[in-house]
Amino acid sequence: MSARPWSVPPCRATIVVAGVVASAAACTPIQRAPEATASGPRPGGWLDAVTAARVARNPPLPPVPPDPTNRWADDAAAAHLGHLLFFDVGLSATQTVNCATCHAPAYGFSDRRALAVGVGTGTRHSMTVLNAAHQRWFTWDGRADTLWSQATQPFESPAEMATPRATVLAHVLEDPELLEAWTRAFGGPPAVATRNEVDASFAQLGKAIAAYERRLVTGPSAYDRWWTRRAAGDPRADEELTDDQRRGLALFFGKANCFQCHHGPNFSDGEFHMLGLPEPDGGPPRDPGRYAVIDRVRTDPMNAAGPHSDDPRGPIAQVSASLARSPDRWGEFRTPSLRNVAETPPYMHAGQFASLEDVVRFYSTLDGAVALDHHRESVLVRLDLTARERRDLVAFLGALTGTAPPMPWGDAPERRRPAPDPDARNPGH
Ligand code: HEC
Ligand code: HEC
Repeated sequence: MSARPWSVPPCRATIVVAGVVASAAACTPIQRAPEATASGPRPGGWLDAVTAARVARNPPLPPVPPDPTNRWADDAAAAHLGHLLFFDVGLSATQTVNCATCHAPAYGFSDRRALAVGVGTGTRHSMTVLNAAHQRWFTWDGRADTLWSQATQPFESPAEMATPRATVLAHVLEDPELLEAWTRAFGGPPAVATRNEVDASFAQLGKAIAAYERRLVTGPSAYDRWWTRRAAGDPRADEELTDDQRRGLALFFGKANCFQCHHGPNFSDGEFHMLGLPEPDGGPPRDPGRYAVIDRVRTDPMNAAGPHSDDPRGPIAQVSASLARSPDRWGEFRTPSLRNVAETPPYMHAGQFASLEDVVRFYSTLDGAVALDHHRESVLVRLDLTARERRDLVAFLGALTGTAPPMPWGDAPERRRPAPDPDARNPGH
């Protein structure tokens, strides 16, 4: 098994050693590119040596890293169960919402809305689930340290599915196809006799969904084909990209500085940054982001260090157990992946921007950006890009769209019988 693409100890963080608490232990190590990419695209022509060295850190996606906290992570029977659960509306209070309501295959596993709408309306934009298994922290503020613990959260969230865990498990016990899939994955029906059993079964349900989500990875994009051919010395590699995309690439890894945060195979450093984005109503930032969840991640019974983890003393658990809240995490959000980003407008944690043009205009002008005190990222400087340069950057982002996840995972599962008609269960109809 290969090592995870990140390592401990974390970068700017200081870990609790021998009871001595240090501050700001909330950050994640920068993702290391896998060794195989030491070479990467060869410089020459329009690609200078400095840019080529940076591009080498953004190789095609490797296989998803192992997740030792989930012993079913790569289990096919668990992934099949997770596939059924992801698309089952019976697990929500209204019998109308499933994970795919906000993570729809047709919309790049997002939903085209600025703010998520489930049983209620949320305060954040639905992020794509595509390639999420490559991340280190999950959701915009990173309030989950594993993919399986994230998967348990939407059920009980009032704005999302609003269903207590015991009710979710009761639905599994009542649905013959779910129960059969569960039994095949876990060797018996979900245990629900005590509160501890309910929690343990709920964690298993999260692990099955995570096993499914680990299959939601995208295939090669034009950028990846270019990267691979150019790394192999193919003299015609450049034909994979248009002229606009090549100029956009040079900007992305050059004077526009995007690679500073969007680096690694998933175009994300896995870190949290404050861009000072205005709220959707134009006012100054009100969402505390990373700052508000650090204590929650550290104490969450569903975290990597908790009783339901399969690796409670491993590296992920150690980092979570040592997180410390520090005021300079206020307003920070996780760097999103840019893979398949053209498929998932609108953009940013509250859907602030309708299009990639708007995102690039923001980075160019920093219009509306709010510098709170002194700590807005010093790396973000006004780029003052020309209209042509902005178009080129957007064109480059379009070259990051890879093929959809393989079937059957990439779409709703075939159910043995039609999913229950939501209206039929609603006495009001
Ligand atoms: C009502 C819409 C809604 C529903 C239903 C929903 N999600 Fe989400 N999802 C979101 C939003 C919004 C976020 C970002 C949350 C945040 O940052 O606060 C998110 C984030 C995520 C992420 C994090 C991706 C990343 O890169 O970190 C994953 C994974 C995910 N959801 C999976 C699921 C699963 C599994 C289900 C069903 C059990 C589900 N979601 C149900 C809206 C929804
Ligand atoms: C300082 C780190 C940093 C730099 C530099 C940076 N980004 Fe980002 N990027 C982020 C973070 C963090 C977010 C999410 C911010 C939020 O929602 O509050 C983001 C969001 C985005 C999004 C929205 C993605 C989505 O799914 O909503 C796009 C597109 C994007 N960046 C492109 C770029 C481009 C192009 C550049 C260069 C011009 C760039 N970024 C430079 C950190 C950075």
